[in-house]
Formats: sequence, C-alpha cells, structure tokens
Amino acid sequence: MPTQKIQIFDTTLRDGEQVPGCKLNTHEKLVIAKQLEQLGVDVIEAGFPISSPGDFDAVRAIAAQTKEATVCGLSRAVEHDIITAAEALKGAKRPRIHTGIGTSDLHVKYKLRTTREEVIARAVQAVKLAKSFVEDVEFYAEDAGRTDNVFLAKVCEEAIKAGATVLNIPDTTGYCLPEEYGAKIKFLYENVKGIDKVCLSTHCHNDLGMATANSIAGVMNGARQIECTINGVGERAGNTALEEVVMILRQHPYLNLVTGINTKLLTETSTLVSHMMRMPVQPNKAIVGANAFSHSSGIHQDGVIKHRETYEIIDPREVGIDSSSIVLTARSGRAALAYRLQKLGYNFDKDTLDKAYSSFLHVADVKKEVVDEDLHELVEEQNLVVAS
Ligand code: KIV
Ligand code: ZN
Repeated sequence: MPTQKIQIFDTTLRDGEQVPGCKLNTHEKLVIAKQLEQLGVDVIEAGFPISSPGDFDAVRAIAAQTKEATVCGLSRAVEHDIITAAEALKGAKRPRIHTGIGTSDLHVKYKLRTTREEVIARAVQAVKLAKSFVEDVEFYAEDAGRTDNVFLAKVCEEAIKAGATVLNIPDTTGYCLPEEYGAKIKFLYENVKGIDKVCLSTHCHNDLGMATANSIAGVMNGARQIECTINGVGERAGNTALEEVVMILRQHPYLNLVTGINTKLLTETSTLVSHMMRMPVQPNKAIVGANAFSHSSGIHQDGVIKHRETYEIIDPREVGIDSSSIVLTARSGRAALAYRLQKLGYNFDKDTLDKAYSSFLHVADVKKEVVDEDLHELVEEQNLVVAS
C-alpha cells in the first residue's frame, strides 16, 4: 500500500477550550495557534464563533494571522451559527466551516425532539448554506458512535450530495470499542456513495480511555483525518491526544500512515498549552508526561544504562527532550547510583561504591527522590574517596 497522509485536525482551541477553567483569551489563543502551525497541524479549529463575542474575535484574529493551516470554525446546523462562522473566517487563506447535527436516536428523540427525516433535511440545509460561503465544509454527525450505521450512512450520503468535503464521525460520548469504531468507518467507506471524493474524519472522546485506540482503529479502516487536542484536553475525560496518535503512527511505519507533524516540538507545545490553560499534565501521561522518559526501578535502570532501547520505544530527542532520566529512589540499584555518581565526577571502586550504596538506601528510604545535592552531601559525610 502506498504511504498515505493523515491530516491532523487540532481542536485544542475549540473542544479543548470547553473545559471548565481552561478558557483562553484572544491573545492566548493566537499564541497557541502560532505554535500549532509551527508544529505542522493541517487544520486549526479556532473556536465556535457564535458562542461569544470573544470567541468570534479570536477566530477572526487566528483566521487573519494563519499562513499555511486551514482555519476552521464550528457551528450547529443553525442558519445564524453558520453565517456568523463564515463572517469570522472571512480573512482566512484556507477557511473551513464545521457544521452538523446529532444523529443517534438519543439525540434525535431527546435533544432535538424531532425525527430522522428532519435531521437529514437540517443537515442538508446546513451544508448547502455553509457551502455558499466557503468551498471547504466539514459535516459532523454528533454521537455517531451510538448512531445506527445504516442511518449514519444515509446522513453522510446526503451531506456529500449537499457539498461536504469532510465527514466527521464523532464518538461524542467515548462509548465505542476500537473494533466497533473501526468497523463503523469501514462500513461507511463501503456503503456511502461518493465517499471516495471526501475525507472521513475521526473525533473520539476519552470517557472509557479509548479515544486514542479508537482514532487509530479509524485510520486503519480508511479515515484520513484525526481530530485531537494537545495533552488530550477536552470535555469530561478529554479528546484524543495529538501527541499520542502522531507518535503511534511514527512508531509503526508499516501502517504506511504519516503525518506532517514536527515531533521535536511536541514537548514544548504540550508545556505551552498546559501553562496557558492552567491544566497540569499528569506525570504518567504518554509521550509528554514528566515520567514518560524517566526510569526509577533498579531493573529498568540497569537495562537502560546498558542499552536505551531495552526499556524505551521512543528516542526522547524525537519529541524534543534531550535525554531520558534516571531517577534515584529506594527502588534503584547500584548500577543507577554508579551511573549518576560518575556523571557528578565520582568514580568509585567496588568497595567504596558498596559503602555509598548502603548510605544511599538510608537517604532514599526517607526521601521520595534522591537528587544530586543529596549525593554530594553523602560523599562528603562518608569521606568517600574517588578511585585513582
Ligand atoms: O464530540 C463531538 O461530537 C463534537 C462535535 C461538535 C464535532 O465535538
Ligand atoms: Zn468533541
């Protein structure tokens, strides 16, 4: 199979920003949008222009200042939303309107209080109206994860006929299993007329911790765009994490799916977003967590010191970190202690190292982590002499 490009659609500034406490002002949104463009994302979903005057201004500013990436604005399948999104996107070099409506029976019956027929009619109207403003129109079928596949295929077919260029299949509630979500994408690929002319997109939420797995299942079954956020920020348990899907595709080259992301900027982008959104990254977060490249148990440290790849599947430099770290704790072994002491200029013979190690364990038992100053103190207190 020839190599296929997966479009990275970043929705940190829209779905990500919906998180309580993460609201960004226009300046902060612009700074993040610039960083996303440098990172190499294909689409920046800049906001939901109808939601507030502030968000309208932010989308307009990002549209005016973004050079390469497509700038997208969200709207419901509502006339005023679409007109406002089009207005906010006027200055964009590559504008996209993202419009859509709920398609699961739960949404049709309880949220929209309407019928499937009416949903199709509103979807078609919305896409046509958006198309009268911009060429690039993405249609979302909200709660597609819990939508009957035959009905979903019908909605998608009508959206394509109305002019949609991208079809977004959101697992809005993070419900699907990877096999189920992958099968849904495959079903659409095989049953929707005209699907070969448009791009199918994944948009997965993480309520059951499966957003990343579902997005990968989606692209393995024909989707060519992944919607995601930096650090996986988003409503409730969050969205698919950009850094995870990008590194998964990179670490599995036989899938022949590539992205245009400059992975060396992943860590600094993660830090910037975490800082601006005031949303700390959990230490054990894949790829960008503080512990993602640190080794603390003796067995792992011994392996990594002998050969990095024994316990590391990614070279930390690929994601913008100079090197992995060996953290000294009460679970560390002699090899890790010797390694760290050597870095500080202490080359001990075996007996001295044994002495150092037993003192180290006493310190480590009372401290969570033994740092360089502790080691200097330990060497001085014990009068340990460097081997000649
Ligand atoms: O999760 C979702 O369904 C969404 C849509 C508005 C695209 O965010
Ligand atoms: Zn969403």
